[in-house]
Amino acid sequence: MAELSKEVLLTAEQLAKRIEELAEEISRDYQGRTLTAVCILKGSFVTLADLIRKLTCPVSCEFIRVSLSDENDTPREVQYTTPFEIAGKDILLIEDILDTGVTLNYLINQLSESGPRSLRVLVLLDKSEARKVEIEADYTGFKIPNRFVVGYGLDFNERYRELPYITWMKS
Ligand code: IMP
Ligand code: MG
Repeated sequence: MAELSKEVLLTAEQLAKRIEELAEEISRDYQGRTLTAVCILKGSFVTLADLIRKLTCPVSCEFIRVSLSDENDTPREVQYTTPFEIAGKDILLIEDILDTGVTLNYLINQLSESGPRSLRVLVLLDKSEARKVEIEADYTGFKIPNRFVVGYGLDFNERYRELPYITWMKS
């Protein structure tokens, strides 16, 4: 049975420091523009909440969800919590973790069709060993080993999103 590790992979302090660095970089890159930060639910809500409070450029927040097909884990459709304008906007997709890359690859293709002015991706965690689709984020929080991690928004069967740090499940 999967069990929570007692060790910590990334502390709350490490996460806060890195989010602040990313927010500084993004604020510089988007100077003079209004950013549309798009939170990919559910895992990214903590990253989004912490990031936007450190930005110095104007930002609007949107929320989307990708539903996966029942048979396998391939994306089926993008669900918008409320529809929002993509055409002509500076879109920054916020994802908790880049694993195989299938989800982000699908989303980038979908959103590109609506003609954003720019489309970039921020991922908090990158498990590059697990990649099946060639894809790199524009902003990456941490590269991590290929383990199933939880905390800071990330879940295992809807548990552990509330942890202020990131740890992993022991199988
Ligand atoms: P990808 O399409 O394989 O890149 O899947 C990324 C999605 O899988 C993320 O948005 C997460 O919801 C989930 N995921 C992948 N790895 C982990 C993990 O280690 N912990 C929690 N969720 C994960
Ligand atoms: Mg999940």
